[in-house]
Amino acid sequence: MKLLFCFLFFFYLQVNADLRSELVEVFGGNRFRLSEDGSQVQLSLDKESGSGFKSKNEYLFGKLEMQIKLVPGDSAGTVTTFYLQSAAENHDEIDFEFLGNVSGEPFILHTNIYTKGKDKREQQFYLWFDPRADFHTYSILWNPQQILFSVDGIPIRVYRNAEARGVPYPKDQPMRLFSTIWSADWATRGGLVQTNWSHAPFTASYRKYGADACVWTNEQSFCSSSREKWWNQVLAADGEKKLEDIQKKYMIYNYCKDVKRFPRGLPPECSLMS
Ligand SMILES: *[C@@H]1O[C@H](CO)[C@@H](O)[C@H](O)[C@H]1NC(C)=O
Ligand SMILES: *[C@@H]1O[C@H](CO)[C@@H](O)[C@H](O)[C@H]1NC(C)=O
Repeated sequence: MKLLFCFLFFFYLQVNADLRSELVEVFGGNRFRLSEDGSQVQLSLDKESGSGFKSKNEYLFGKLEMQIKLVPGDSAGTVTTFYLQSAAENHDEIDFEFLGNVSGEPFILHTNIYTKGKDKREQQFYLWFDPRADFHTYSILWNPQQILFSVDGIPIRVYRNAEARGVPYPKDQPMRLFSTIWSADWATRGGLVQTNWSHAPFTASYRKYGADACVWTNEQSFCSSSREKWWNQVLAADGEKKLEDIQKKYMIYNYCKDVKRFPRGLPPECSLMS
């Protein structure tokens, strides 16, 4: 296990307007496009390839967020992602994935959490707006107490640290932020609708990357001076209420309700969190 040395350090910006200093292409070549002033990134997908970027920094806890405008028009068969992932083999991962659809039909926001390589913790949602019409903020708060997924500041999912009760929690492996776009034959209506390549390229846009986080470098963690704002942040009572309302209205799949899939009993965290 890595030791956590946390220094308060005053070098880290909360929202970095210039994405050139934060993000770097991982695949897709010039399908990863930075605007000249560095304020926007676009990722596109065509028949030959998708594309992706990652953060230059690795983080051990933080609040990572970005404004994303999803593929306009027909995006059936496409998957756009925004996630944190550690590098080692039994990796940790915290996922937002946006499953595309034909024009006018809703995206599905798919979320998942991996701990030491194990996942099967999917929850899926419809959104209360059209995510291709405009930019919206998607954020992951990851601190020692909980992982909180929010959309435009509204919590949609929480995963609490219940290690004391035998539930694995990601906390030892630093993670990097990734975003990608690719095509998947299962993405839309469970595979009934395939990507229509005559509508390619499919392009998603990104701006305003926020990383209020502890940066992991040389086996040490350097935290932003504003760490206290998020380090101990947990969902307050009114947040719980909001979360419940949102889940009641918009959640379309919850692994914790899928008894058929877990015939020997639901995962232990299911009785401890919504
Ligand atoms: C696409 O639209 C159909 C019809 O409204 C809907 O059933 C489905 O959940 C939508 N999203 C995806 C990703 O399939
Ligand atoms: C793909 O899009 C083209 C152009 O809009 C359309 O003519 C064609 O019918 C579409 N193909 C399928 C399989 O929907």
